[in-house]
Amino acid sequence: MELLLSSRGGALLLAALLLRLGLISGACPCEDPSLCNPIAGTRDFEVFVFQVSGKSWKFYDWSQITTVAIFGKYDPELMCYAHSRGARVVLKGDVSVKEIVDPAFRTAWINQKVDLAKKQYMDGINIDIEQVVAKSSAEYYALTALVQETTEAFHKAIPGSQVTFDVAWSPKCIDRRCYNYTGIADSCDFVFVMSYDEQSQVWTDCIARANAPYNQTLTGYDDYIHMGINPKKLVMGVPWYGYDYSCLSLSKAHVCSIEEVSFRGAPCSDAAGRQVPYRIIMNLANSSITGILWNEEQKAPYFEYRDPHGTIHQVWYDNPRSISLKAAYVKEHGLRGIGMWNGDCLNYSGGSVARQQTKAMWEALKPK
Ligand SMILES: *[C@@H]1O[C@H](CO)[C@@H](O)[C@H](O)[C@H]1NC(C)=O
Ligand SMILES: *[C@@H]1O[C@H](CO)[C@@H](O)[C@H](O)[C@H]1NC(C)=O
Ligand SMILES: *[C@@H]1O[C@H](CO)[C@@H](O)[C@H](O)[C@H]1NC(C)=O
Ligand SMILES: *[C@@H]1O[C@H](CO)[C@@H](O)[C@H](O)[C@H]1NC(C)=O
Repeated sequence: MELLLSSRGGALLLAALLLRLGLISGACPCEDPSLCNPIAGTRDFEVFVFQVSGKSWKFYDWSQITTVAIFGKYDPELMCYAHSRGARVVLKGDVSVKEIVDPAFRTAWINQKVDLAKKQYMDGINIDIEQVVAKSSAEYYALTALVQETTEAFHKAIPGSQVTFDVAWSPKCIDRRCYNYTGIADSCDFVFVMSYDEQSQVWTDCIARANAPYNQTLTGYDDYIHMGINPKKLVMGVPWYGYDYSCLSLSKAHVCSIEEVSFRGAPCSDAAGRQVPYRIIMNLANSSITGILWNEEQKAPYFEYRDPHGTIHQVWYDNPRSISLKAAYVKEHGLRGIGMWNGDCLNYSGGSVARQQTKAMWEALKPK
């Protein structure tokens, strides 16, 4: 850097480089400069996609998408394309809850995020803080303040911008995350409910279960609504991934006991399993020893396979059938919309089987 700045030519070179990277404003990276304008207006039904890597986004179902949260590396091509389809692109926001207790730190953090969003022609921020917060602690109050101040700053600096916050599948202090949920929902545009990893804390039998069981998932929404949160402030998040568990033993009734891995005070957790994207699950399913099974109580698909070492695995996941059942709640209860973690879990290679599976997953999001 010093070397580059040592001459005037070097400084110009650096400026050109930063412009190309879109790191300083004035450099709209889109062919049509109007695509650098923030998206205004809201659509009735929100479809919120987390993007994590690569260029799979080119094959997303853009006819549905309203917001893409870029959790991987910023991609100006994605920004231009999303804007051409009327979809917002938002930043990821994560910060240590210990630091935000200091109001000056919050202001500095927010200003930095607003500047970054403006430089990158983005339309807001998705705040994803999954840290432990005790009820009525300093962090508890600071978190609500952070959300409120972030929303005010973004709405003022970027007209039409969107500020959202990610919450666990239930408001009951999941993973020791005790937040002021009503305060947070009131303070932002909407919350994204992460209805997955629902076995992160298991207090009963240590066995493999569904990532997002039907009743458990919907009970979480009932609880958010009963505490006074307007359904229009809730977006349902569904998983496009599942869990692969190695079974210590497997009963005839398909009960797979798993290793005891504790998590935030609970003796057993899905941390004993491995997260797998839907495209890999579909490959594993082809070599299953059971075929695809359905658990009626949890309303979720699963199957078993034997690995090269002879260990039996049980894989639990979501497919168009289980997602459609949960998505029906979105319409029945008038939620703001739906979304998934994450958009890049599907197989977009274009082979005929993959294409059909991928299309069915996108279709399952639609209100019916
Ligand atoms: C939650 O936040 C709101 C808005 O800041 C506040 O009015 C309310 O008292 C808070 N509730 C609790 C239980 O702390
Ligand atoms: C979940 O199960 C409980 C208890 O069996 C039941 O009362 C409740 O209605 C169920 N919720 C849904 C959404 O099916
Ligand atoms: C894999 O399984 C799917 C059904 O889950 C089936 O449609 C597909 O033909 C299978 N592919 C191969 C290569 O066996
Ligand atoms: C994606 O699908 C193609 C064609 O259907 C298949 O050949 C490939 O193995 C799949 N990729 C993954 C990662 O599952």
